Amino acid sequence: MTREEIIKALKTRFVKAGQAHVFDFYEDLEEQEKSILIKQLRSVNLEVLEAQIISHISEVKDDPDSSYNEDTLKPSSYIQLPENGGSMEAWESAQIEGERAIRSGRLAAFTVAGGQGTRLGFDGPKGILPVSIISKKSFFEVFADKIMRANQRYDISIPWFIMTSEINHRATIDAFEANNYFGLKKDLVSFFPQSLFPAVDFNGKIIMESKSSIARSPNGHGGAFKALVESGAVEKMKKLGVDVISYFQIDNPLIPCIDPIFIGFHLSEKSELSSKMIPKAYPLEKVGTFCEYKGKDIVIEYSDMPKEIQEKVDSNGEILYRSGSVAIHLFDRNFVEFLGGFSNEDSLPYHKAIKKIPYLDRSGINQVPEKENGIKFEMFVFDALAKASKTIIIEGLRNDNFSPVKNTKGVDSLDTCHKDQMEQSIRWLEACGVFLDNKEGKAIEINYRFAMDKEDFIYQWSRLKNKPSLKDGTIIE
Ligand code: UTP
Repeated sequence: MTREEIIKALKTRFVKAGQAHVFDFYEDLEEQEKSILIKQLRSVNLEVLEAQIISHISEVKDDPDSSYNEDTLKPSSYIQLPENGGSMEAWESAQIEGERAIRSGRLAAFTVAGGQGTRLGFDGPKGILPVSIISKKSFFEVFADKIMRANQRYDISIPWFIMTSEINHRATIDAFEANNYFGLKKDLVSFFPQSLFPAVDFNGKIIMESKSSIARSPNGHGGAFKALVESGAVEKMKKLGVDVISYFQIDNPLIPCIDPIFIGFHLSEKSELSSKMIPKAYPLEKVGTFCEYKGKDIVIEYSDMPKEIQEKVDSNGEILYRSGSVAIHLFDRNFVEFLGGFSNEDSLPYHKAIKKIPYLDRSGINQVPEKENGIKFEMFVFDALAKASKTIIIEGLRNDNFSPVKNTKGVDSLDTCHKDQMEQSIRWLEACGVFLDNKEGKAIEINYRFAMDKEDFIYQWSRLKNKPSLKDGTIIE
């Protein structure tokens, strides 16, 4: 096909889909701008877009999904922590199995960092935001520290895969380059971008960002499966002998991203997709809930779950649907290959998010809306649960797993995360029999290169010859 034929065919497809306006300013563009627009339009899967418009705009439903009710749902079962009734023996053997797998090179770390972090309003990849309490290390460095400590502890080099998007890909790599890969081996850190998906207005029309560009946004963390496969990351894992992928999000520095016990359970149960739950703090906490639906574990978002079900209690008065989802998973590599290789129609569902999206109006003037004016579509990683033939859920302690930074202030902000980091330092020290005086207002940081989790900290502290005096501003390393 000649270039003219390609453009003609493309125009026909967009006209047929009711999206002819994307060519409104085409003739005004310079050659290079025309090429940019054509490239973007060729990457749009109009069939998938149309399906989203039909299901999310033409048939709007705002109420919680009525298929989720007391007859169709059960709380998901999960492996309890020993202190909450789980078997200590099972946790100990999971630890042995997990450590064996890590030592033999079966694990890769995988961070999703393709989001735009709009709530935080931070310009640049969220991963470069300073997050640790005293040293002000970035999220990227915090995870690099944990991986480095695991490498040292298990005498291995764990590969790390980072999903970006076209929007922050270059800036992410630049941050690693500028910091000498935070001490990790450069060839074991891989970056790959996820796909972008067009944003539409409330009439289902693709929003123009400029005369030569449509408004697009990353297709959600659920886009990870396809991106892992299409980028060749899975192939690389296969060559390295990796079959367990530790999934975590960029904005949660408390996550033990290399967790031997979790890995041990995942392997011994032959799970395809494993998840951590933390007990919900209160019934209507705004986290997704693990539930059993049609014989499968799924996560239901708080907005989709009827309030009366969220508020149900068991015979001990505890929240019945207590398993909060905190976006911590392990994937079996073959499962990723299977799911990421699905055709578009069979892949994960898209969810809609109503947003303020800057746009070019019909007369060619850029506008910044004051109110929400459009819809972005995203796939969610937890929707993969329903596609897996075997899943498990294990319990985690909130304080050692979850303190995300989403907002500039209030809930899930840097302030709450700093507080949680300090509380973690206190708890880990107390586990070694060290109790601080005057904790109030003190900041003490644990370098994760020194210890990657509580057990490791107890071990490392016991070996530390010159123990630091624990005053405000001390970093234990
Ligand atoms: P969030 O859902 O918190 O989105 O992402 P976000 O983009 O970071 O922030 P907001 O909603 O715009 O304020 C949770 C995790 O999933 C990743 C994010 O980078 C973060 O690690 N993510 C999200 C992706 O990798 N791709 C996406 O398309 C969306």
